[in-house]
Amino acid sequence: MVTLPQLDTALEEPLYRQLYQYYREEILSGRLSRGERIPPTRELAGQLGLNRATVASAYELLETEGLIRGHVGRGSFVEGPGVDVALSPLSWPERLADPLIAETATPALLSSADAISFTSARPADELFPLDEFRASCAEVIGGAQAAEILQLGSPQGFGPLRAHLLGQARRQDQARPADDVIVTSGCQQALDLLQRLLTTAGDTVLVEDPVYPGLRNVFIRAGVRVVGVPVGAQGLDLEALDRLVARERPRLLVVTPNFQNPTGTTLPLPARESLLRMAAGAGLPVVENDIYGELRYQGEALPTLKALDSAGLVVQIKSFSKITFPGLRVGWILAPGIVIERLAELKQWTDLHSDQLSQAVLLRFAESGRLAAHCRRMVEAGAERLRAVLAACERHLPGGSYWTRPQGGMNLWVRLPEPMDASDLLGRAVRENVSYLPGRYFAVGRPDPGAFRLSFAGLTPEKIEKGLRILGSIFEKDRASGRELRRGAPAPAIV
Ligand SMILES: Cc1ncc(COP(=O)(O)O)c(C=O)c1O
Repeated sequence: MVTLPQLDTALEEPLYRQLYQYYREEILSGRLSRGERIPPTRELAGQLGLNRATVASAYELLETEGLIRGHVGRGSFVEGPGVDVALSPLSWPERLADPLIAETATPALLSSADAISFTSARPADELFPLDEFRASCAEVIGGAQAAEILQLGSPQGFGPLRAHLLGQARRQDQARPADDVIVTSGCQQALDLLQRLLTTAGDTVLVEDPVYPGLRNVFIRAGVRVVGVPVGAQGLDLEALDRLVARERPRLLVVTPNFQNPTGTTLPLPARESLLRMAAGAGLPVVENDIYGELRYQGEALPTLKALDSAGLVVQIKSFSKITFPGLRVGWILAPGIVIERLAELKQWTDLHSDQLSQAVLLRFAESGRLAAHCRRMVEAGAERLRAVLAACERHLPGGSYWTRPQGGMNLWVRLPEPMDASDLLGRAVRENVSYLPGRYFAVGRPDPGAFRLSFAGLTPEKIEKGLRILGSIFEKDRASGRELRRGAPAPAIV
């Protein structure tokens, strides 16, 4: 039974719009369902004391939005089924802001238990210290501070964790006297906040090439020009950096001196010192991403840029994500107090503050000594996995391949001999249940078709060996068939 709409001639909104709104709401709310008949225009106009054209205009609008359909001689009927997003008069695709980010094909994600995925730079689930985590949770929730932790807190983060992180940075000679800490939802949010604070659309930022896409995309999204500084076997190419600093006059430089993602390379000490001199000479702030810093498996630890910085131009970001529990989303920024104050303002407008329970549990995990013990286990496991991946590359990659020799972290970079294309070969690997991320995923300005990233830290040595054996045989077959092709058909002249 259709009730009659109540229209109000005193309103500014024309009567046909009021009528249209009335039926639209009836249909979208499901009070009028698909197939129900609505009164013919003449009948409704009579009942409401309106001109028939007014009713017809309302029906026309409803019809253009696909909410009703008129059938000659039979009247109008509701088209859509109650609440259905397909009936929404909004064209959502037109409402969505342009992401500005060049499309990067979604990486192949394998989910079966026997799949071997080299795609993700994250710690292995089976290495999570779950008992210690449960104990830390129980202690926090059962402790005297539980109510305070569950209450709204400060945008800068949970005070006791901030004090712990700052104290640790001071003991390790990382922090300058006026430095402070803000806790973020991982390094990803740290990058996002720093982009907003330190750059505006049209500025230029220098980053490594290849680079972690989550960093590149934060800046591109904001309309900032991202210029890549090539990374070689020894990390960032300093001669190229020098040229680019002079030519591009960048607002910011972002670097990962320890075990860079995706190449796994480490910037040697003299290069760190030169980089800082260059940045100081150009008045260039540097963001040091030290997310992998704790995961050193070989060689002596090198001082961070933050520790070497005598000019006060380095902002350091770190995170618990690579050591353990990336799902807790806890990272932090160490920077001059004035920078931290402004970041706290920005963070407040973003998410008020990061989750305090995660912060409190990680603090308990650290203060109880469980974190240090876990770090030792992660470094042992990482060292074993690094040895396994290096040995498997040696055994299985085709002659003429190049790969980096990381001293820590989670990633290793491979370049296949020309003209092999890592993107093309990925499909074959996925069919054999092995995956990796092709180089184009990390490119800034230099596409490197033969390159790909192997994230080894999440896989057991056995899986690493098996995965590389499979990849090696796919690559070898491709090379052999390429040789055949090249022998059969001489390459045409390039014109
Ligand atoms: C270089 C780099 N920066 C930042 C991130 C994001 O880390 P988080 O989990 O702390 O947000 C990652 C994650 O892979 C990374 O590799």
